[in-house]
Amino acid sequence: MATPLLAVERLSKSFSGFHALQDVSLEVGEGSIVGLVGPNGCGKSTLFNCVSGFLPFDAGQVRFRGTPVGGMAPHRIARLGLVRTFQNGHATKRMTVLENMLMAAGGQTGELPLQALLRRPAIRMQQTALLGRAREILETLKLTRVANEYAGNLSGGQQKLLALGRAVMCDADLIMLDEPAAGVNPTLVREFVSMVRDLRDRSGKTFLIIEHDMKFISGACDHVFVLSAGRNLSSGTPAQVQRDPRVLEVYLGKRHAAVA
Ligand SMILES: Nc1ncnc2c1ncn2[C@@H]1O[C@H](COP(=O)(O)OP(=O)(O)O)[C@@H](O)[C@H]1O
Ligand SMILES: [Mg+2]
Repeated sequence: MATPLLAVERLSKSFSGFHALQDVSLEVGEGSIVGLVGPNGCGKSTLFNCVSGFLPFDAGQVRFRGTPVGGMAPHRIARLGLVRTFQNGHATKRMTVLENMLMAAGGQTGELPLQALLRRPAIRMQQTALLGRAREILETLKLTRVANEYAGNLSGGQQKLLALGRAVMCDADLIMLDEPAAGVNPTLVREFVSMVRDLRDRSGKTFLIIEHDMKFISGACDHVFVLSAGRNLSSGTPAQVQRDPRVLEVYLGKRHAAVA
């Protein structure tokens, strides 16, 4: 079998004796959209922090394309091709949507595209390509109309879309999104889902997504891992995990019991 793009192997992490993650394992295949779900406080964001190098972990290993990345600094892991968004990460409000997109790409090269744009011709060609890519992504996200608006003027839903767009602008192969649709109007969630799938299809990037909304997960993800109290609880297709009695009990709880 091919090496998965990301392999988390028996990862454990404690905070002053509290086991936030215990022996958690998961795999993300190249080009897939994988969901990570579970009740509040079950360790999802902690797992993202450990995988992306923002937190050291106590035991286990994280491999990216087979390379162990445990102990590496976040910028080194990002350079290998793995980036993450934060639960409340946002764009620079006093810059336009398009400028924010270009800045996101600049984070990778260490160069500010807008400044570079005004400089050397060789760089200018590269920047023209970036501009094209930014416009294409904004089109997919239906943000073309607001490309020249200040990011601070966008609606909450549009800000979430911009955060998604900025993540896709990075040169990363694996994009980890922490609750990208949190607070998004439920009627927009379906659209959000189709945009994520569109971005995947067009860019060939791989996504690992933390999301509470089961509709989002079912619509967007090829495969889902469920955590409970810092441990693996279940995994499979969205349909499979939603039928798993352990998931119904722990994750969906009373709400589902009432529906059943
Ligand atoms: N830096 C930290 N210090 C101490 N405890 C933490 C820290 N980060 C997270 N935790 C605890 O670890 C558990 C998992 O948190 P988190 O990963 O944020 O959960 P989730 O993202 O699934 O809601 C929670 O009980 C949380 O309080
Ligand atoms: Mg979280």
